[in-house]
Amino acid sequence: MPDGSIYMDYNATTPIAPEVLDEMFPYLKSEFGNPSSTYPLGIRAKVAVERAREEIAKLIGAETQEIVFLSGGSEANNMVLKGMVDLKRASDFHIIVSKIEHPSILNPCLYLMERGVEIDFIDVDGSGRVNPEDVERKIKPNTCLISIMLANNETGTIQPIGEISKIARSHGIVFHTDAAQAVGKIEVNANSLGVDLMTIAGHKLYA
Ligand SMILES: Cc1ncc(COP(=O)(O)O)c(C=O)c1O
Repeated sequence: MPDGSIYMDYNATTPIAPEVLDEMFPYLKSEFGNPSSTYPLGIRAKVAVERAREEIAKLIGAETQEIVFLSGGSEANNMVLKGMVDLKRASDFHIIVSKIEHPSILNPCLYLMERGVEIDFIDVDGSGRVNPEDVERKIKPNTCLISIMLANNETGTIQPIGEISKIARSHGIVFHTDAAQAVGKIEVNANSLGVDLMTIAGHKLYA
């Protein structure tokens, strides 16, 4: 670091890796086209975006068309929570999250609750783990979303996502996991975890 201090907050964000910088440099300097433009500069940018989408899908065991680029983890989490409900019929919707989710899940929950959405916050045990049975007990006929993080940003506790996703699936409920602290640190495969939606954050893995 320029001031001689030691940076130890890599869970908050990471510097861009030299190989990522090399890969990105042409697109920042000369290959700056709008990927929606139909002339060669735009088409080359579009090819690069689609290649990135494919590589990310491969990294997390998803299909290419399932990858959506947003500004970061907070926007993704907000989009999941707010995208699941129709606020004109807010009281028709019930959501389950854990008490230890990141603020980018908990704050949208408060926003939705103020507008009439019902939300249950699941407790964790002494090691910070969610009990899947507690999640199942809270399910109601109008539960539209369960969102439980994969790895916690403060304790590092890994949640039993595979078990919870099975419960969600058996009730036909959409399941989201915030994997912002997991991808790049442990192997994560969206398909074998059985999740419908997953948040990841490139700036936490040197991208
Ligand atoms: C678990 C978790 N989810 C979401 C976020 C938010 O991600 P971003 O900083 O990309 O908005 C963070 C950031 O620290 C996080 O740790």
